[in-house]
Order: sequence, then C-alpha cells, then structure tokens
Amino acid sequence: MQDTLFKPARISVGKLVAGFALLLVILMLFGVSQTYAQSVRAPGNAVNLDDGIEEGPSNALGEDSQSDFWRNFRGGDPNDIKQMISALPEGAVMTTTGEHWRLIRENYIRKYAGWFPLGVIGILLLYHLIKGKMRIPGGYSDNTLTRFNINQRVAHWFMAGVFIILGITGLIILLGRPLIAPYLGKEVNSILTSASMQGHNLFGPLFILALLWMFFKFVRGNFFQIVDLKWIFKMGGFFGGHVSSSQFNFGEKTWFWIVILVGIVMSVTGILLLFPWLVDDLRWLQLSTILHAGGAILLISVLFGHIYVGTVGMEGSLDSMLKGQVDENWAKAHHDLWYEEVTGKSATESTDKEGTS
Ligand code: HEM
Repeated sequence: MQDTLFKPARISVGKLVAGFALLLVILMLFGVSQTYAQSVRAPGNAVNLDDGIEEGPSNALGEDSQSDFWRNFRGGDPNDIKQMISALPEGAVMTTTGEHWRLIRENYIRKYAGWFPLGVIGILLLYHLIKGKMRIPGGYSDNTLTRFNINQRVAHWFMAGVFIILGITGLIILLGRPLIAPYLGKEVNSILTSASMQGHNLFGPLFILALLWMFFKFVRGNFFQIVDLKWIFKMGGFFGGHVSSSQFNFGEKTWFWIVILVGIVMSVTGILLLFPWLVDDLRWLQLSTILHAGGAILLISVLFGHIYVGTVGMEGSLDSMLKGQVDENWAKAHHDLWYEEVTGKSATESTDKEGTS
C-alpha cells in the first residue's frame, strides 16, 4: 500500500506533447485577446468625438502639412510673382508661373508695348517742329574727312538691314492679334504671322553675327571719357551752347552700348526660344519671351531717335554712313576733338568755307 502511495507518476510522451499543445493554445488565445482588446478599446486618455463630426483621413503623412506638400509639389505659391525667377523647391514637379507669364504678356506687353515707339515718334516730331533741322554752322565747306571705312559701313548696314527685318516681323508676331486681326481679319493675320515667324527664325541667328561685327568695328571710339560729363550736363548742347566731343559723343556711345548689351540679351533669349530643349525649366522660356519683347521695344524706340539724328535731324550726318566721308565743318561742329586729332588743326579756327565761320 505504502509502495503504491509513493509510486512516482509515469508521464507518457503523448501526454507531454498534448500538455505543451494546450499551453500553446492558451498563450495564443491570450495574445489574440490582448491585441483585439487594444484595437477596439480606446486608451484611457482618449477623447470621444462629438456625433456628426467626421474623422479626417488617417495620418498617413505623419506630421507633414498637406498644404506644404502640395505647394512644394506644384513648385511654389502661385500668387508669388518672384516664383518667375526664384529657385524651384526641391522635388517640385510642376511650375505655377504660366498664368503670371500670360497676364504680363497680355495685360502689359501686348497692351502698352506699341505705345513706346509711337511716343518716341511723337516727341521727335514735336522737337523737329520746334527746333527744325540742325544745320552745319557755316554750311558745307566741300572739304571732307574720312569718318568710316568700307568695313565699318558694311557692318552698320548689315546690322540695320537684319534689325529692321527682325523688328517688323517681331512686331507682327507680338502685336498682330490686337492690331491686325480686328481690322484685316484673322486669315490675313494668320498668314502674316506665320510668314513673320519663318522670317524671324531665319534672320535671328544673323543678328548675332551682325552684333559681333558691329562690336569689333565700332568699340574703339565708344569708351566713355571725362569729356562726356560736359555733354551730359549740357544735355548734348540743348542747354549752355556747344559741347566738345571726340569721335563719338555721349549720346552715340550710349546708343552703341545699348545696342551691344540689349543685343546680347536679345541673342541669348532668342537662342533659348529657338531651341527650347536647351533648358529643362519652362520658366526660362517664359522669362525669355518677356525679356525678348521688352528688349525689342527698347531698341526699336531708341532706334527711331538714332534714325532721326542720322537723317532729317542733322545736316551732313548720313554722308558718314553712306560715303564714309563727312564735311570738315560738320566735324568741327559736332566732333571737334576728333577733328583736331585727325587733322592736327584747331577746331576753333574759322570754318573752312572761304572765310565763313
Ligand atoms: C535705317 C536706319 C539707320 C540709319 C539711317 C542710321 C544712321 C547712322 C549714321 C548716320 C551713323 C553715323 C553717326 C556718326 O557719324 O556719328 C550711324 C552710326 C551707328 N549706327 Fe546707325 N543707322 C540706322 C540703323 C541702325 C541700326 C538698326 C543700328 C543697330 C541696331 C544702328 C547702330 C549704329 C551704331 C552702333 C552706330 C555707331 C555709333 C557709335 O558707335 O557710337 N544703326 N547710324
């Protein structure tokens, strides 16, 4: 009996396995119940939403602001005009400046651009009516000086020809819709604009050649000097009488540098518009069209002043670009320092028409 009582229990392997399996099932059920309990029960500090208020989307983006994300995605704030030139935010996928560009082109450039050249023509007409042609003091002397050699003259007229073709075709492209279409019809405007586009694309690259040629042929006499200050103070002789000038006066030098500097802007922007695949950011092209149109209007406007002085405004001026020769009296009156440099004579001596002064 004693033996039976203290007989060690014999556990079979089968029972061990069954017991282990039972333990496993209990543990799994406990784990599942815990997870289940977490997902359905609100934490102790949770606040119940009022009825009727819908929950927003789950917080998939973490702490990032949705508006920042979309602003960044579309390349900045569409109301910020500085976006036309500032760097695109990292990771931006699209630009927002197209509407700015369209509004600047429609509301400013197309609307007002044509008025600038017309305004200059008006001022020149008024000036001519009041002051009349600037005559050579003492008239023609019939003695001439060489002012420009054949290379300089060909360079000048090549530039003038190319520029005038580009100016006319460019103005048709820019202003055809508001100025030609309403009066001559859309068909005529369409034909003229297409033809102008072809001509403009063809002659555009020649402008770069003309600009380089002009620069090298004329740069020598066009550096600003101290004597130019007098020209500025006397407004080119408008106030305070005669002003001394070397080969080119301040007005001519300014015109030269406007042609060169604005010409560079026109060339660079023109190349980008002709070969748009050279840039990967569309805003360069938007900016290019604005600079190209603005530069063209500036050059065309100032050109009217240049043409006026070179033809009807000043007696004896055009001879320099047509024949390469200018009258000595013209040189003494308008470029006295240059006259003295090339002749070795004083420009204040009596003018050379046998005694006239
Ligand atoms: C039909 C139109 C034009 C006429 C009648 C004209 C006339 C003249 C004349 C007479 C001169 C010589 C001035 C002098 O001897 O001091 C001159 C110089 C010059 N012209 Fe013209 N021109 C015309 C078109 C142009 C155009 C389209 C450009 C450039 C876009 C231009 C740029 C220049 C320059 C840079 C000079 C030299 C002035 C300097 O270097 O300071 N011209 N032009």
